[in-house]
Amino acid sequence: MTDHRIALIPGDGIGAEVLPPAQQVLDAVGRRHGFGFSYQSFDWSCARYLREGAMMPEDGLDRLRDKDAILLGAVGYPGVPDHVSLWGLLIPIRRGFRQYVNLRPIRVFEGIDSPVRGAAAGEVDFVVVRENVEGEYSEIGGRTNRGFPEEMAVQEAVFTRAGVTRVLDYAFGLAERRGGTLTSATKSNGIVHTMPFWDELVAERGAVHPRVAWDQEHIDALAAKFVLEPARFDVVVASNLFGDILSDLAAAVVGSIGIAPAGNLNPEREFPSMFEPVHGSAPDIAGRGVANPLGAIWSAALMLDHLGHPEAAGDVTGAIAAVLAGSEVRTPDLGGTATTAEFTDEILQLL
Ligand code: NAD
Ligand code: IPM
Ligand code: MN
Repeated sequence: MTDHRIALIPGDGIGAEVLPPAQQVLDAVGRRHGFGFSYQSFDWSCARYLREGAMMPEDGLDRLRDKDAILLGAVGYPGVPDHVSLWGLLIPIRRGFRQYVNLRPIRVFEGIDSPVRGAAAGEVDFVVVRENVEGEYSEIGGRTNRGFPEEMAVQEAVFTRAGVTRVLDYAFGLAERRGGTLTSATKSNGIVHTMPFWDELVAERGAVHPRVAWDQEHIDALAAKFVLEPARFDVVVASNLFGDILSDLAAAVVGSIGIAPAGNLNPEREFPSMFEPVHGSAPDIAGRGVANPLGAIWSAALMLDHLGHPEAAGDVTGAIAAVLAGSEVRTPDLGGTATTAEFTDEILQLL
């Protein structure tokens, strides 16, 4: 029996509430398929920051390096500025482990009311491939003259040929495997200087993947089309910030941000990849035991796929689909009254 070494970083708020359900699901599906997990849990969080002055220890990445994958809940909590919690934990892991693809699948499941007309179950099934380590989220810039009339903040977006090319190749490759199309999110109408460069690279990589039909849409128009005709998308590739915004929008289109999963992938497997729900720590509902666990559970399914267990991953997404279609049990974000634990039990019963 293979044991996969998994690092668990529950983090803050509902991050710590949705991770145990994901772990229960992993154990159940592992038993069924004859593999197991050895977990090591890390208390890296805003609580740790307040206690010890750092989100994670200085050798944090070294402690994760030998793991097969990382499962993270969410980080960030009132009382600790977001730039501290994010630059102190989430972003260093994404960058340090060269997780340059953020894979964010979107599906409308039967049994969930999408707020969007025309978003029928089975018809909306696409993936946002978000560039995850450069672009608008750069470390170049700063803020000066605080409190003075001259105060200003500057941040340079950084797009490199190598960085854009590798994420585009991943996205084109994914579209090829899915037998689908690719849409590039852009803003090439001359206003944002980086985007014509992005577009040129899309055309270049498109020529290398002639079997994939691709097009591009301005980010503003694309946002509208996510709402008006979500069924037409297959693989959507976007820069770091555009992809961040599009993935929350897409999650809302399919019914709740509580369902959406993410895989921060290092496709070359030089380092562990990290799996986490798209949502954050949700301080507004934390501590009540009502967070939707599906985003974390689906993220665990992405992890299973990455670890070479596509059938087990399919069992998990199948169980999610079956529970949504066949049961009335739901957390409040989906219009129900169930707790996180009750909703998780519905999934576990099918595994
Ligand atoms: P959020 O995703 O935490 O919450 C947005 C809204 O969605 C809230 O109303 C929340 O109650 C709801 N929601 C989110 N997940 C849910 C779930 N599983 N079930 C039911 N409802 C859910 O976003 P935010 O409020 O912008 O951010 C809160 C904190 O989380 C901030 O500190 C932010 O920086 C951090 N954050 C972290 C990550 C991460 O760790 N990857 C991602 C996003 C935000
Ligand atoms: C996400 C989050 C993060 C991001 C924040 C918390 C830095 O919103 O994972 O989508 O923007 O990448
Ligand atoms: Mn986000």
